Amino acid sequence: MSKMWSGRFREPLDPAFESWQRSFPFDVRLLPQEVAASKAHARAIAAAGILTDTELSKMLDGLDRVIPLSVEEVTKLTPAESAQASLEANLAGIVALNPQAEDIHHFVELQLTKLIGDLALKLHTGRSRNEQIATDMRLFVRDAIDQTLDGLLAWREALVEQARSASDSVMPSYTHLQRAEPVLIAHWLLAYVAMLERDFTRLVDCRNRLNLCPLGSGAIAGATLALDRTIAAEALGFDGPTPNSMDATSDRDFALEFTQALSTLGLHISRFAEELTLYSTAEFGFLDLPERFSTGSSAMPQKKNPDLTELIRGKAGRLQGAALTLATIVKGLPLAYNKDLQEGQEPVFDAADTVLGILALLPGFTRALRFRTEAMKAAAEKGYLNAMAAATYLTYKGVPFRKAHEKIGQAVRLGLETGRELNQLTLEELRGFGEEFGADFFDAISLKATLDCHDVIGGTATHRVRDAVADASRRIASD
Ligand code: ARG
Repeated sequence: MSKMWSGRFREPLDPAFESWQRSFPFDVRLLPQEVAASKAHARAIAAAGILTDTELSKMLDGLDRVIPLSVEEVTKLTPAESAQASLEANLAGIVALNPQAEDIHHFVELQLTKLIGDLALKLHTGRSRNEQIATDMRLFVRDAIDQTLDGLLAWREALVEQARSASDSVMPSYTHLQRAEPVLIAHWLLAYVAMLERDFTRLVDCRNRLNLCPLGSGAIAGATLALDRTIAAEALGFDGPTPNSMDATSDRDFALEFTQALSTLGLHISRFAEELTLYSTAEFGFLDLPERFSTGSSAMPQKKNPDLTELIRGKAGRLQGAALTLATIVKGLPLAYNKDLQEGQEPVFDAADTVLGILALLPGFTRALRFRTEAMKAAAEKGYLNAMAAATYLTYKGVPFRKAHEKIGQAVRLGLETGRELNQLTLEELRGFGEEFGADFFDAISLKATLDCHDVIGGTATHRVRDAVADASRRIASD
């Protein structure tokens, strides 16, 4: 009786089909979740009278021993036992040693039977793998969200530290990748803080919605025993049981929301990576890539390549892929459980691994960035980035903005033709475009004034940015 379902079958499975349909090679990583969910179910069926107290404690003890032994325990074993244990201590080893296990649920049942005998076969009373996998995946995603949130907080701290040390340093901002207006470097960095804080709340929302327990939903119609579903829900730290068994066994919204939130987070991280890749070129010259996060070329000795930011851009593509793969799998599935759902596990694992890999590096990389503030300032001073501030100056003199725009456009044209910036034109020349120009014009278009005229909530005026950095620091302290 090595299979969980062989009773009604007369023929063995085609061997190629058998190994092709197994999920154990990848769902083995759900071992901790499967054991926790099984312990919770054991408590629920004990309360329903299926297990005696002694049986329950034997079962819980056995389930604890299903997880490969910890290092401390390994050291207490005989050499033969420890050879076996250390093999089992890695998941690939577990898969290799258990070719008969169809999936993680089957594996745990087989292991438990080895450990506690036929009592193990009572564990599946009143439950189905359909609710088990839904529960394991929720637990996995919940944990992955918690780790991602930690990573996001660490990245935020690094960005805010950089914003603080950038102080009043300026850089050009770009629209259409053409120089637009000067901004504070801190303002640019805080743009990414705004993005990641949205990502953070999206993941928190997803976590709140997913935190209901499918155990007790049975195969589709609800458990065949009158289980108290709150027992398992509480044991697993869920807020309560899911409300509908058909939905609970086939719902993968939590995985969709998780991968979709990660795909959006991936877009943000990728834009950051793209900007840094660009700014580190000789053409921009805004920053020196930290050597410990860069690589060289085997052919061109002079190269220092931005592999970290390039790989982030590439990995963001995988995150998009995970969300799309999952949506495509779920689309058009009739209720309730269908085996197609098994294909939805790997994209979730891959997305979690990918984002956690990125977030393990990004804070350190962000902290190691050194901006060439002189070059950034020089770029902010050249190319008429003060033209909009100049037009605004005229509006204070009563000129309608449309006309002011035209006059400053003409001044820019003169500057372009004579190789000068607006502040290098003479007052006489400017007056040729309108008598509203006064001697105070030059102060109004200085770099400082050009920044400080953006004195609105969310603008780049120096005091606004200082406040924004202080606000972000406060959020770091309180989150
Ligand atoms: N390995 C399966 C999965 O991941 C577990 C659920 C199997 N259920 C079933 N009715 N065959 O989806």
